[in-house]
Amino acid sequence: MKVLVIGSGGREHTLVWKISQSPKVDKIYCAPGNAGIAELAECIDITPDDINGLAGFALSDQIDLTVVGPELPLVEGIVDLFESRDLRIFGPSRQAALLEGSKVFSKEIMLKYGVPTAGAEIFSSFEKAKDYIQAKGAPLVVKADGLAGGKGAVVCHTLDEALKAVEAIMQKKIFGESGKRILVEDCLFGEEASFIVFTDGENIVPMASSQDHKRIYDGDKGPNTGGMGAYSPAPMITRDLSEKIMQEIIRPVVNGLASEGRPYKGVLYAGLIITDEGPKVIEFNVRCGDPESQAVIPRLKNDLIDIINDIIDGRLSARSLDWDERPCVCIVCASDGYPGSYQKGKLISGLQEFSNAKDIILFHAGTKLSGQEIMTDGGRVLGVTALGKDIKETIDKAYQAIEKIDFEGIYYRKDIGYRALEKGAIKR
Ligand code: AMP
Ligand code: GLY
Repeated sequence: MKVLVIGSGGREHTLVWKISQSPKVDKIYCAPGNAGIAELAECIDITPDDINGLAGFALSDQIDLTVVGPELPLVEGIVDLFESRDLRIFGPSRQAALLEGSKVFSKEIMLKYGVPTAGAEIFSSFEKAKDYIQAKGAPLVVKADGLAGGKGAVVCHTLDEALKAVEAIMQKKIFGESGKRILVEDCLFGEEASFIVFTDGENIVPMASSQDHKRIYDGDKGPNTGGMGAYSPAPMITRDLSEKIMQEIIRPVVNGLASEGRPYKGVLYAGLIITDEGPKVIEFNVRCGDPESQAVIPRLKNDLIDIINDIIDGRLSARSLDWDERPCVCIVCASDGYPGSYQKGKLISGLQEFSNAKDIILFHAGTKLSGQEIMTDGGRVLGVTALGKDIKETIDKAYQAIEKIDFEGIYYRKDIGYRALEKGAIKR
């Protein structure tokens, strides 16, 4: 079969890498892909937001299955468009993808179905938001309603920060229409965790647990990023906690969406804070995490194509997932300056050392081919990923691999996995 993967990041390289191992797959295309993906797939120059262009390509090249990486095309309705043209595609419909596309919608669903989440007020008037914030006081979290490339949530420690955030979102419109409405949310405290499941709208199968490192600097300091590294399993997500998250959060949302006439098919990702009162949702994503995918998918022993087909055909319960016992760690190498401005086009050296490496995988994110050379082309450049005997050995292995890789301005956190090391790995 011919498979099209949409996207160009580390998550998409991971998906392409995994799909390329399926005996059912003859050829993979990726739109638009990156230099690493180009080793496994034919890269097509169509951007993920051009859903009509993607449908045209899938029709003309007789693609048997399309797998969507990022949220934007899902929120734009790529699944509905493909299905209306009898094209097979994996992901939630536009109506279900609103769970990420609108934080207001997501909050309303959580409140309606009793899912624990941060208390919040919704505003479409700047003045009213300002009055509320002044009365409430810091800390609080200001969130743009719509998609904002992962930058739409501002954790404000002072009143001044909160007022500035509302002004930037509602008056300066830094996120455009996405900031027409905002949420002003109570600030939650506790450790963050990512809980990611496969669901066909009725049956739900959790993926192996994982944890991301969102902040740019060691010790979880500095501004938020797309994610600087991840590991799986996450010892914090014990079996009991996993059960609780399924019962109190995932199942009510999946059932709730079904009863709203928006059945959810695909990968559902709950961003959680584990508070003293238990797990609470800070956001839903309608796709795999990045870099969580890089740490989770290498541990998946099943054929991903089988799982995807089961989900599309609504028979997920028939299959239970099989995970590699070994932990997996992904360390993101970024361009100096990220998540702010950074330069592109730096030569990356040392990659060829790993072409036959066992249990080290280099997942490319912002990379580009220039002749025979591989250059940096984004903020997050590479996800250096290792599988190992235990969490300590795995972390060491990934850091040893990074030593061999270089580009001007390479930056990576030195403490990826530190929480798992502190807690000691518990399998799930
Ligand atoms: P989001 O875009 O909703 O994932 O938020 C980005 C980041 O902001 C999260 O990973 C958290 O670190 C932080 N955050 C979001 N909502 C809250 C909240 N209610 N309380 C504390 N931190 C939050
Ligand atoms: N790693 C965070 C995300 O995928 O949204």
